[in-house]
Amino acid sequence: MNICIIGTGYVGLVTGTVFADLGNEVICVDADAEKISALQGGKVPIYEPGLEEMIHRNVADNRLSFTTSMKKGVEPSNLIFIAVGTPTKPSGEPDLSQVKAVAREIAEHISAYKIIVNKSTVPVGTGDLVRQIINRHKKSDTDFDVVSNPEFLREGSAIADTLAPDRIVIGAPNHKVAVKFLELYASLERPMLITDVYSAEMIKYASNAFLATKISFINVIANLCEKAGADVTSVIKGMGYDKRIGFQFLQAGLGYGGSCFPKDTEALVCTAGKYGVDFKLLEGVIKINTNRVPHFVGRMKEVLGDIQGKVIALLGLAFKPDTDDMREAKSIELIELLLQQGAEIKAYDPAAMNNSRKILPQITYCSSAYEAADKTDALVVVTEWREFKLLNLERIKETMKSPVIFDGRNIYDPTVMYRQGFSYHGVGR
Ligand code: UDX
Repeated sequence: MNICIIGTGYVGLVTGTVFADLGNEVICVDADAEKISALQGGKVPIYEPGLEEMIHRNVADNRLSFTTSMKKGVEPSNLIFIAVGTPTKPSGEPDLSQVKAVAREIAEHISAYKIIVNKSTVPVGTGDLVRQIINRHKKSDTDFDVVSNPEFLREGSAIADTLAPDRIVIGAPNHKVAVKFLELYASLERPMLITDVYSAEMIKYASNAFLATKISFINVIANLCEKAGADVTSVIKGMGYDKRIGFQFLQAGLGYGGSCFPKDTEALVCTAGKYGVDFKLLEGVIKINTNRVPHFVGRMKEVLGDIQGKVIALLGLAFKPDTDDMREAKSIELIELLLQQGAEIKAYDPAAMNNSRKILPQITYCSSAYEAADKTDALVVVTEWREFKLLNLERIKETMKSPVIFDGRNIYDPTVMYRQGFSYHGVGR
C-alpha cells in the first residue's frame, strides 16, 4: 500500500518504518526541515533500539523516504496517518492545533479517495473534527474516510511493540475501510479489534489511564508498607501471581513520567469533566503521582538530615530505561527539589545526558556511574537501566564519602546491600 505518515516523532517514525519493513511504500512528512534533512542523510533524531538499522534498510530498498512537502506525501498515498504531537495545554486539555493544521493541509492536496487515520492520541470526537475540517477545506468533491487507529508502543521497545502488539484497534466508519486495515496488518498475525471511531479513541485513553492507576495504586501501597514495616516487592509478588491482577505496571517507585501517562490522564479527566462525569479516581491517581518525588525527598531527609551542602549522585535521568527521552522525567522534579534545598548534583545516564543538559544545565554530568558516585554523600537510583543493576558495588562504596543509597526503583536486594555495608533505602520496603 502507499502510505503517508505526517509527523516524525516517536510514533510516526517507528510506525512509518515498520510499515515500510512490511513491504509498503512509505513517505514520512514533517514540517521540521532540519529533522527531515537529517533523516534524509541517514541520521535518526531519537534513540530507539533497532530503529536506525531498520530505517537504513528500508531507505536503501526505496520503500521509505522523507519530505517536508505535504503535497508529495499526500498525493500518491491511499492511507494518510496523522501522527503529530498533542501536547497538554495549561488547562490539562490536549492541544489539537497541530492535528487541525495537518487536517487543513491534507484537505488542500486530496483529489482522489483517501483514508485519513488518527494515530496521534486524541480525545473522543476528534475523528469528527478532522472530518469537518477536511470537508470544509477540500478543493474538489472528493470522498474520504476518517479512521482511529491508536498506537500502544512503548519507548525503548517501540519496534518490538509495533511488530507484535497485544492488539490492533481499528475504529472504522464502515466495512470497506475496516477490510483495508485488516489487510494492512494481516502479516503481523495479531488480534485485531474493529470498533466504531469513538470507541477506538476511548480505548487509548482508558488503557493508559488504567496502567497509570495500577502504578499509583502500588505507590500508595508502598507508602503504607514503609509505615507498617512490610516490603512492597513481596506484596507485588503476592498480588501479581493472581492472574486477574498480573505483574505488569505494578512496580513501585518514583512514579510515572514520559510523554503519555501524565498527558493522557490529565486529558481524560478533562474529557470526563466536559461530559459531566465524575472521575475523582483518576484525579487521585494524578495527585499520588505528583506527590512521589516530594515524598521520596522527605525520606532522604530523614536519613541525611539537612540536604544543604550535600553532594548527591543520580543514576539515570531518562523517564525510563532504554530511551533518551526526558519528557516529564521524574529526575527533573527530583533535581529541582534537591537543588532548591541546597544540594550539589552529579548525574550519569547512558543515553539521556545530551537532552538533559538542555533542561538542567546547572548540574555536573559524569561519564560513568562510578565517576558520579565519587566523593558523594548519597546515591539515588532514578532510572532502572540494566547497567546499574550490574555495578561493582564494592567499587561504588569505596569511592563514596558515605555509602548511602536511595533506590527509587527498587533494583537492588536490601539484604545484599546491607551485607556490603550500605545504608540502603528502597521504596516501600
Ligand atoms: C506508555 C504506554 O505503555 C504505551 O502503551 C503508550 O502507547 C504510550 O505510553 P511509555 O510512556 O513509552 O508507554 O512507557 P511505559 O513503559 O508505559 O512507562 C511509563 C512510565 O511509567 C515510566 O515513567 C515508567 O518508569 C513508569 N512505570 C511503569 C512505573 O513507575 N511502574 C511500572 O510498573 C511501569
